Amino acid sequence: AVERTLSIVKPDAVGRNQIGEIYRRFESAGLRIVAARMLHLSREQAEGFYAVHRERPFFEALVGFMTSGPVMVQVLEGEEAIRKNREIMGATNPAEAAAGTIRHDLAETIDANAVHGSDAPETARDEIAFFFRDDEIHSRG
Ligand code: CMP
Repeated sequence: AVERTLSIVKPDAVGRNQIGEIYRRFESAGLRIVAARMLHLSREQAEGFYAVHRERPFFEALVGFMTSGPVMVQVLEGEEAIRKNREIMGATNPAEAAAGTIRHDLAETIDANAVHGSDAPETARDEIAFFFRDDEIHSRG
């Protein structure tokens, strides 16, 4: 089924000038970028977006990192977009990510791991709504 997923190019990858390289990988896999914006997350936004991780030991580092520079947020659309995006990204920890994935090829550490992607349909819905209104998403066949 055609799905939508929320993707973030994180501050490390934006800082390394890798937005285009990452977008190319999405498009090559058949995912369409149907909404996109660059923004520098506030502490409140980062804490809100990652609220499910609030009790985890890495939460402070995560919020600190995600507010350290600008990010690109985008909605990807396509067949099985959620699973496909996770495949393209690779494992959360770049050290465990398969060759050819974004995190293996471009990222260094579990915090600075280049990209975020929604992990399930309900999360995708919530995460997309966190950043985009319906009329900002330009669905295309
Ligand atoms: P992301 O998909 O953005 O979701 C939460 C982020 O927390 C994750 O990617 C990692 O960058 C970061 N993180 C740091 N430590 C861990 C950990 N032990 N388990 C999962 N995520 C972690």
